[in-house]
Amino acid sequence: MSKKVFVKTYGCQMNVYDSNRMVNVLKPHGYEVAESPEEADLVILNTCHIREKAAEKVYSEIGRLKKLKINKAKNGQDMYIAVAGCVAQAEGAEMMQRAPAVDLVLGPQTYHRLPAMLNSAAEQRAGGRTSSRVLDTEFPIDTKFDHLPKESDFDSPAQFLTIQEGCDKFCAFCVVPYTRGAEYSRSVEAVVEEATHMAAKGVVEITLLGQNVNAYHGDGGDGETRNLGELIGAVADIEGIERIRYTTSHPRDMDDELISAHKDIDACMPYLHLPVQSGSDTILAAMNRKHTREEYFTIIDKLRAARPDLALSSDFIVGFPGETDADFEDTMDLVRRVKYSQAYSFKYSPRPGTPAAAAETQVPEDVKSERLARLQTLLEQHQAEFNEASIGLEMDILLEREGKMKGQLIGRSPYLQAVVVDFSDSDNALDGEADPSYTDFMGKLVRVKIVASGQRSLTGELMKTLH
Ligand code: SAH
Ligand code: SF4
Ligand code: F3S
Repeated sequence: MSKKVFVKTYGCQMNVYDSNRMVNVLKPHGYEVAESPEEADLVILNTCHIREKAAEKVYSEIGRLKKLKINKAKNGQDMYIAVAGCVAQAEGAEMMQRAPAVDLVLGPQTYHRLPAMLNSAAEQRAGGRTSSRVLDTEFPIDTKFDHLPKESDFDSPAQFLTIQEGCDKFCAFCVVPYTRGAEYSRSVEAVVEEATHMAAKGVVEITLLGQNVNAYHGDGGDGETRNLGELIGAVADIEGIERIRYTTSHPRDMDDELISAHKDIDACMPYLHLPVQSGSDTILAAMNRKHTREEYFTIIDKLRAARPDLALSSDFIVGFPGETDADFEDTMDLVRRVKYSQAYSFKYSPRPGTPAAAAETQVPEDVKSERLARLQTLLEQHQAEFNEASIGLEMDILLEREGKMKGQLIGRSPYLQAVVVDFSDSDNALDGEADPSYTDFMGKLVRVKIVASGQRSLTGELMKTLH
């Protein structure tokens, strides 16, 4: 009899990628995807530990699932709760104590062992217990990538592909080096094989993923390693791959070869997420980011020289320990100079075990809130200006999903803006073609003219298809 699994994903895109892989590991063992926890035999929470709020969400979700598990047990139904991801890695043993309803805890490097863990959980339950206790948060030598099966079909023409995992940088605020472990790069061959498989299944756009993606140094198969610029070249050669993105990059690893890729490789999109965190040299040093604001500006200048239409995004932390008003003004100044097309900003959240959490110079909560509000107002203003400047431009949009209204499809511009294309408007009908069913355009690159902009999305009118 088939069983059902429901996965709830928190955190970054690497978790999204991993969640899909966990489902693939389970499919040969008789599992199908459930639409809700209610109909699932196994619920996996793929968790994030990056900020306190993210980690807290997990415990409240476990509380809800516990009730569901009890109700199901009353009806003679078995349900297993598994916690995966970065909270599992960071506080797995503690979680086992604190949340007895959790059956399984597994860290990000052990997903290929999930079927075996489920077997031992079932054996424990066979002894009459209502919960089992299985914990696996090791960093095994054999990497999960060697064992994880490939996706058989894809729900979108734009997919993520993890090429690098872990981080050796140890920024003073960050848990990632502890939850994901040391840097590891997959081989060029493994990445190209997976990308080729994706292309054969209709994938057009690939985002190469890593916590520190531009630190990539994968085995080239000839005893030499390849850097990210070279890897992008190899992926761009795959038939059917028209767009390549990568995330997240660290300014220190933005080498000249990678910068040139934005000029020389057509498929390399003119958009880059290059987090800076702060515009103050004092804070950058305290954060252990290992670069100055001037060095960041130099990288941006080089990138814009290589690709003048490049759009940039970033992450910011406000209220890092010791941040003064003047430090914060430096961040505002940096934002005004760079002008990001979009950005993410957060209040500093002390994380257990990281050096900055122990600092005595913590910034009061109200100061953090006030700074965040000011920064976000400025970032939103720049985003709106960037979107407004898109009006009148022609862009290639990869249509990825249906819109809210019938006849609408939503895709992404080269600059990662969401663009709504309305096919029900007769002006959008293609010359010489009989009333095409608009869903045929799903997964296709189309040329549109941008006619309107909002804070979150643009509206485009169809010009002609590219394929
Ligand atoms: N590897 C990426 C960042 C990954 S974490 C990089 O080096 O830029 C994603 C973002 O979460 C970070 O860029 C940072 O802005 C934010 N973040 C990480 N730890 C945080 C903390 N303790 N408090 C608040 N924000 C944090
Ligand atoms: Fe965290 Fe810094 Fe590594 Fe990014 S580079 S994952 S912020 S330690
Ligand atoms: Fe969160 Fe782990 Fe990603 S802490 S941001 S899920 S690497």
